Amino acid sequence: MDKFFLVSLLGLLIVANGVSGSMMCDNNFGMLEELNNLDTEEDYEVEELSDIPSWTSERGGKVLVNIDSFGAAGNGETDDTEALQKAWGVACSTPKSVLLIPKGRRYLVNATKFIGPCKDNLIIQIDGTLVAPEDPKNWDPKLPRVWLDFSKLKKAVFQGSGVIDGSGSKWWAASCKKNKTNPCKGAPTALTIDTSSSIKVKGLTIQNSQQMHFTISRCDSVRILGVKVASPGDSPNTDGIHISESTNVIVQDCKIGTGDDCISIVNASSNIKMKRIFCGPGHGISIGSLGKDNSTGVVTKVILDTAFLKGTTNGLRIKTWQGGAGYVKGVRFQNVRVENVSNPILIDQFYCDSPTSCQNQSSALEISEIMYQNVSGTTNSAKAIKFDCSDTVPCSNLVLSNVDLEKQDGTVETYCHSAQGFGYGVVHPSAECLNSSDKTSQDDESQSIISEDDYTRHTEL
Ligand SMILES: *[C@@H]1O[C@H](CO)[C@@H](O)[C@H](O)[C@H]1NC(C)=O
Ligand SMILES: *[C@@H]1O[C@H](CO)[C@@H](O)[C@H](O)[C@H]1NC(C)=O
Ligand SMILES: *[C@@H]1O[C@H](CO)[C@@H](O)[C@H](O)[C@H]1NC(C)=O
Ligand SMILES: *[C@@H]1O[C@H](CO)[C@@H](O)[C@H](O)[C@H]1NC(C)=O
Ligand SMILES: *[C@@H]1O[C@H](CO)[C@@H](O)[C@H](O)[C@H]1NC(C)=O
Ligand SMILES: *[C@@H]1O[C@H](CO)[C@@H](O)[C@H](O)[C@H]1NC(C)=O
Ligand SMILES: *[C@@H]1O[C@H](CO)[C@@H](O)[C@H](O)[C@H]1NC(C)=O
Ligand SMILES: *[C@@H]1O[C@H](CO)[C@@H](O)[C@H](O)[C@H]1NC(C)=O
Repeated sequence: MDKFFLVSLLGLLIVANGVSGSMMCDNNFGMLEELNNLDTEEDYEVEELSDIPSWTSERGGKVLVNIDSFGAAGNGETDDTEALQKAWGVACSTPKSVLLIPKGRRYLVNATKFIGPCKDNLIIQIDGTLVAPEDPKNWDPKLPRVWLDFSKLKKAVFQGSGVIDGSGSKWWAASCKKNKTNPCKGAPTALTIDTSSSIKVKGLTIQNSQQMHFTISRCDSVRILGVKVASPGDSPNTDGIHISESTNVIVQDCKIGTGDDCISIVNASSNIKMKRIFCGPGHGISIGSLGKDNSTGVVTKVILDTAFLKGTTNGLRIKTWQGGAGYVKGVRFQNVRVENVSNPILIDQFYCDSPTSCQNQSSALEISEIMYQNVSGTTNSAKAIKFDCSDTVPCSNLVLSNVDLEKQDGTVETYCHSAQGFGYGVVHPSAECLNSSDKTSQDDESQSIISEDDYTRHTEL
């Protein structure tokens, strides 16, 4: 069914691009084929590590390394940093070990780097709570941007019913977003997994982070499932799951409520699949921001399948700064329900999250092959669909299909600026403002317009 759909979609793209756009079509073909593969879960699963029993069920030849055996107090007040560091040292160097943070206890831990490589099949079993010290003033100045920072791991599992709690409220109050007299400076990310591969993260709750909750950077093959993120809707810059410079990442069955993007995907990330995501409160599911300070950003092959966004300030967003370079190409958002969401569908190439205003520039990232299928629900803003693209680098091949967005007590509209693409099937508000003319044959307009026949033919899929 899906393959058939893609083949038909390809047909549409060929029609949209006209005969003389055949070079472009070859590109589309390749990209869509790859996207199709990305969608077949069998091909895409990272190594299934389910043979490892959860600690409570069975030992299965595992070596238990309990933080309590290293002098931890577990009362939430005594500094347990040293105990955790010692336990980590033993667990990391012992094959088949399980580093256990036991249930029902709270461990106060300072900013710490946990550096591999470790012996294979390390399990970090967090059933209790890891809590960060509250006061930004006492934070280790050598680790200003991390709290629990894991790196250079291979085949490791983080799991459990426990909580990682950043105690972020004082950090939020000190943010320049909350108090304009304060300087803008970064705060720690609660959980970071960096430069690692074959990682699974299952079931944890990450809450009240100082800034971002969970960053995956420079990783390959990561599977995040059943992770919960919880922070107030007004906590500044507290992205839920942030993916940077990483490939083959699956995020599924996650419930995220926070004060910034529920999920953000930034530079050098590819093959990212999100499935069954709940987002709200928050700023939506974002690709970007990219291109800040004239930098190059590349994000390709991203799928979001099945999501519910509720009360968020954006829905499905791509945000880039003026002056950037690089591209975002091959993105599919499908089966998304929005409720009380502002900007449900948004491409913003004039993104400017800076205390000073941003100048328009001639360079920008190129955004192409972005599809929205089966997106419905209620919007807060009249411009339910907004494609605000660069004057010099227009967005291309934006495709909308079965999109239905309504506003209570109001009409909805689509805004397009420098955006090329088309809609088919039900598209409400209408996608007519998309410039569907063929980039490569602008003199022959007749060639470039999809006929009414094509619409009807293809909606019958
Ligand atoms: C944790 O941080 C506090 C405050 O900076 C410091 O007094 C304490 O020594 C640190 N603990 C460890 C084990 O480094
Ligand atoms: C903002 O921060 C300044 C300096 O840190 C502080 O003196 C002031 O009380 C803060 N204002 C509010 C409203 O918290
Ligand atoms: C984006 O990623 C590429 C490739 O890893 C890197 O060369 C470039 O410096 C990154 N850009 C930024 C802004 O980090
Ligand atoms: C980005 O490039 C523009 C145009 O060349 C230049 O005016 C601007 O200062 C650059 N910005 C930064 C942060 O380098
Ligand atoms: C809609 O969402 C906003 C936050 O964006 C919230 O303040 C408001 O209460 C919500 N309204 C309804 C009817 O849920
Ligand atoms: C940048 O360009 C956009 C689109 O042409 C325009 O709407 C906006 O006003 C410009 N911004 C500035 C700061 O010039
Ligand atoms: C869109 O929704 C229809 C009807 O529920 C479904 O048959 C189709 O598979 C969906 N499309 C995608 C890409 O999931
Ligand atoms: C549509 O795109 C063509 C080719 O890029 C361009 O010539 C034309 O000005 C565009 N029209 C609008 C309304 O943006």
